[in-house]
Amino acid sequence: MLELQGLRYHPATSPQPVLRGVNLRLAVGEPTLVAGRSGSGKTTLLELISGLAEADGGQILWDGEALSSRQRRWLCGLVFQFPERHFLGLTVGQELRLGQRRLDGERAAAVLQQVGLGAINLRQAPEQLSGGQQRRLALAVQLLRDPRVLLLDEPTAGLDWTVREEVLELLAQLSSQRALLVVTHEPELFQGLIRQGWFLDQGVLHPLERQADHPLTAGIAGAGS
Ligand SMILES: Nc1ncnc2c1ncn2[C@@H]1O[C@H](COP(=O)(O)OP(=O)(O)O)[C@@H](O)[C@H]1O
Ligand SMILES: [Mg+2]
Repeated sequence: MLELQGLRYHPATSPQPVLRGVNLRLAVGEPTLVAGRSGSGKTTLLELISGLAEADGGQILWDGEALSSRQRRWLCGLVFQFPERHFLGLTVGQELRLGQRRLDGERAAAVLQQVGLGAINLRQAPEQLSGGQQRRLALAVQLLRDPRVLLLDEPTAGLDWTVREEVLELLAQLSSQRALLVVTHEPELFQGLIRQGWFLDQGVLHPLERQADHPLTAGIAGAGS
């Protein structure tokens, strides 16, 4: 289980703290959602968890042990909001090979199958894929590292509804083996998936069910309190 204790983040360039003491537990098999308006600090939260930014206070533990940011970069797989903007490979095969010392072909095939890209041509340019396929590829790149914690920033942003349904099914499947955190400004799309939901406001998490301005989230249970 991943545990955030009193996480604080206040960059010098920001007049207000972005996070003011965030507590959160992410357990395997309990897909978790953090909702919040644009600018509420959702992406910042993922950057802190995944070790891309340093908190100004608090700690992050895995199975009770405090982890450095370097350890968290190993532990976590972060899929950016528009992952296709971060592609480096000229081909799908190259993209999968990035960050791998040696690409295990069988494992890569299994992961591609898992994300619904079993029939993909590895010599194709990532730009030639559809939007949904590009998201799946970005997810596959992270899954190849077999992260214990999977962090998804606005995974449905810019995708049409049919693709969204498929993405939700895939996430449900993935969460059975790892801690999963989704941050989004459209929490109602994740109702079927989520086991605990939070609302990030003014740098603090509140149980999502108590947010009157999100009536569509009634099915999502707040947790921990
Ligand atoms: N290093 C930083 N310096 C100044 N402000 C920052 C920094 N990191 C984040 N912020 C501010 O924190 C707020 C939250 O940003 P972000 O995490 O991107 O929100 P969200 O993902 O919910 O839209 C924004 O107002 C942003 O400008
Ligand atoms: Mg964001």
